[in-house]
Amino acid sequence: MVNKGWLLCIGLATVFIVEVSSQDCGQLSTWLQQANQANLEVLKGKMASTIPQQCLDDVVSFSPKENLRNIDISEEENVKVAIQEVLQQTGHIFKQNNTEMPWDEDSLRVFHAGLDQQSENLKSCLSASPRSQRIQLTRLRVKRYFRSLSDLLKEKEYSRCAWEIIQIQVKECFLWIEKLIQMI
Ligand SMILES: *[C@@H]1O[C@H](CO)[C@@H](O)[C@H](O)[C@H]1NC(C)=O
Repeated sequence: MVNKGWLLCIGLATVFIVEVSSQDCGQLSTWLQQANQANLEVLKGKMASTIPQQCLDDVVSFSPKENLRNIDISEEENVKVAIQEVLQQTGHIFKQNNTEMPWDEDSLRVFHAGLDQQSENLKSCLSASPRSQRIQLTRLRVKRYFRSLSDLLKEKEYSRCAWEIIQIQVKECFLWIEKLIQMI
């Protein structure tokens, strides 16, 4: 219980910090780093420490990363867009039928609030034209990746195993974001 409360505090603190510095795009990589770290902590705190035996086969066989791997990360603006789209899509996917997901409502609320805030802040720091072909392609690739997560949830009827896979995938996305932030 202590641990849970503590994580919740971190989550709330981060929402607060991010809100305070929302105007400051010069500090983008710093607050994004903090926010991503907090997202990871909340997620890790909720995930099973080992993959449940009955989910193992599903976890191993699911690998839709091609779309993310193809994203062009040579340009800073494109990297920001990729991160922003991942945050937004993560928020969407966690709003799906989550009755089998072992999260309490408070954690889920904090997680959503953080994602929404971070996504909005990041959006306000983007300078590339949303019409740029490269930007659109990046968004499309992130969306395709999350579409495959969403399809999996539906196919497996929002089961515990399906949510286990989603959480593993999202955790890997956050770890990927950690690397991407260093390019900003
Ligand atoms: C949500 O998923 C659970 C578990 O698969 C299922 O029993 C329930 O009917 C679903 N609820 C809705 C509203 O689809």
